[in-house]
Amino acid sequence: MSTRVYVSRDASATSLGADEVATALIAAAGAGTIELVRTGTRGLLWLEPLVEVETASGRVGYGPVAPADVPGLLAAGLLTGGAHALNVGRVEDLPWFKSQERLTFARVGIVDPLSLADYRREGGYAGLERALAMKPVDIVQAVTESGLRGRGGAAFPTGIKWKTVLEAQASQKYVTCNADEGDSGTFADRMLMEGDPFTLIEGMTIAGLAVNATQGYIYCRVEYPEAIATLNAAIKAAYAGGYLGRDVKGSGRRFELSVRVGAGAYICGEETSMLESLEGKRGEVRVRPPLPALKGLFGMPTIVNNVISLATVPVILAKGPGHYQNFGMGRSRGTLPFQLAGNIKRGGLIERAFGVTLKEILYDYGGGSRSGRPIRAVQIGGPLGAYVPASQFDTPLDYEAFAGIGAMVGHGGIVAFDDTVDMAKMARYAFEFCAIESCGKCTPCRIGSSRGVGLIDNLLAGKEPVHQLKMIEDLCETMIQGSLCGLGGMAPFPVKSALKHFGEDFVPRTGH
Ligand SMILES: Cc1cc2nc3c(=O)[nH]c(=O)nc-3n(C[C@H](O)[C@H](O)[C@H](O)COP(=O)(O)O)c2cc1C
Ligand code: SF4
Repeated sequence: MSTRVYVSRDASATSLGADEVATALIAAAGAGTIELVRTGTRGLLWLEPLVEVETASGRVGYGPVAPADVPGLLAAGLLTGGAHALNVGRVEDLPWFKSQERLTFARVGIVDPLSLADYRREGGYAGLERALAMKPVDIVQAVTESGLRGRGGAAFPTGIKWKTVLEAQASQKYVTCNADEGDSGTFADRMLMEGDPFTLIEGMTIAGLAVNATQGYIYCRVEYPEAIATLNAAIKAAYAGGYLGRDVKGSGRRFELSVRVGAGAYICGEETSMLESLEGKRGEVRVRPPLPALKGLFGMPTIVNNVISLATVPVILAKGPGHYQNFGMGRSRGTLPFQLAGNIKRGGLIERAFGVTLKEILYDYGGGSRSGRPIRAVQIGGPLGAYVPASQFDTPLDYEAFAGIGAMVGHGGIVAFDDTVDMAKMARYAFEFCAIESCGKCTPCRIGSSRGVGLIDNLLAGKEPVHQLKMIEDLCETMIQGSLCGLGGMAPFPVKSALKHFGEDFVPRTGH
C-alpha cells in the first residue's frame, strides 16, 4: 500500500523548490511507494518546502526540505514519520499552527485544491446547501449578523453592501471579486485562491443567490499565474459538478462565473478602477456617487468584495453567523488572516481572531527579526498604511484600535523593519510609490506625490529644512482632503507617521 505524502504547490513553496523536492521524492521512493498529493501551503512559509507524511498518528512534517535531503530522509524512515533533524512532528501540534483560529483558511494546506471530493469531505459546500434553502433576504441577514466587514482594506460591513444590491431593481446584477492584491506584504488572497479555490467559488455563488445576481467575475492580477490557472481549473470542476451554471444543484437558480486578468496596476485594486478595467477600459477611478452597489459593472448593481470577504461567507452560512461573530473584539468580529513579512525570522500566514496584539504576531509567531536586531517599525495595511513604532506594538489588532493610533489594519499585511531602517527614505518611497501608481485623474495625487518626493529630497539635502517640513505637512493635508480616492488620500499616512514617530531620521545628510 502506498503512503500519502503532501507537498505544497503554492507559489511561495514552489519558489523555494517544492517542485524539485516532489520530483526527488517520486524518483527516490520508487513508483507505487508513495501517493503524492500537491496541496496549498499551510502558511508556515519558514518551513517550506514542507513535506508532510500521513502516519497512524496524523500528518508528520519535515522542513525546510531540499532535494538533496530526500535520500537521507527516506533512509531515516520518512514514510513512517521517522526521526530526522528536519522532523518537526505533527504539523497541527506546532504552537505556530495550533494556536491559530482557522475559519477562512480551515482547508488551505490540507486538501488537494482541485479535488471536489476533498473539498466536500472537509465541510465544503455545506454553506451553499443552507443558502439554497434560504430566501435572499435571510442570506443577507446572516452575513450582516456575522459582523463580517470587508477584508480588502476599508472594513465596510459586507451585509450592508449586499442589502443595497439586493434592494436595487435591475434586469442584471453582478458579483465581482477583487483579487488584485497589490498591497506590499500581502499574500492571503493568493494563498486562498491557490490552496482552496472552491471556498471562493462557493462564497461568490452564495453572494449571487443573496442578491439575485447571475454572473460573477474574479478580477485577478496577472502576476498570479498559478492562482489564475487553479481558479480556472476549479471553476471547470464546479461546473462539471453542477455547482455553477444555469441550475445550481437542481435549485433552478443560475450562477455563472469566470476569471478576468488585470494588466498589473495598483490602482486597479480600487473598486471603481477595477470595474473600469473589467469593462475593458483604462483602469481609472470613477467619481462616487453613484456607488458600485447601485451602478457598478456595465452600470448595473454590483457587489465588489475582496477574496477573503467572499471566501469567509461559506463558513458563516455553514456554522451560523453566531459562530463567526463569537470571535474578535469590539466591532471587529471574526478572524483575519495576518500576513507576516519583511525582516522577520518566521514569516507566513496566521489566522487569528481580532484582538491579538502586534507584539504576539511579531515575536510569538515571527520570532523577532531575521537579522536578530530589534524591530524598530512595522508597516501594516500595505504601502498606504502608517508606520507603527515599537512603543505601540501592544495595540490589539482591531480596526478601531488601530484607527485610534492613526494606523490601519487594512488587508492584514504586516511588514517588519529592524533598527537599520531609514524612515526618511521610507517616507520618500511612499510619495514615490504614489507618483508611479497614480491614475492621474486628480491633481492633489498626480502632482502632489511628485512634489512630495522633491520636498523630502530638499529636506535631506539640507535646503531650508524647517520650510520643507512645513510644506510636507501642508501637502499631506491637501492630499488627504483633496484626493478623489484612497491612493492619494492615504499615501500621506506613512509619511506623517514616519515624521511623528521617527522624526530623528529626517535630518540633512551628506551625499543626498
Ligand atoms: C488604491 C487602492 C487600492 C486598493 N486595492 C485593493 C486590492 O488590491 N484588493 C482589494 O480587495 N481591495 C482593494 N482596495 C479596496 C477596494 O476599493 C474596495 O474597498 C474593496 O475591494 C471592497 O471589498 P471588501 O468590502 O470585501 O473589502 C483598494 C483601494 C484603494 C483606494
Ligand atoms: S487619488 Fe490618485 S489614483 Fe486616486 S483618483 Fe486621484 S489621481 Fe487617481
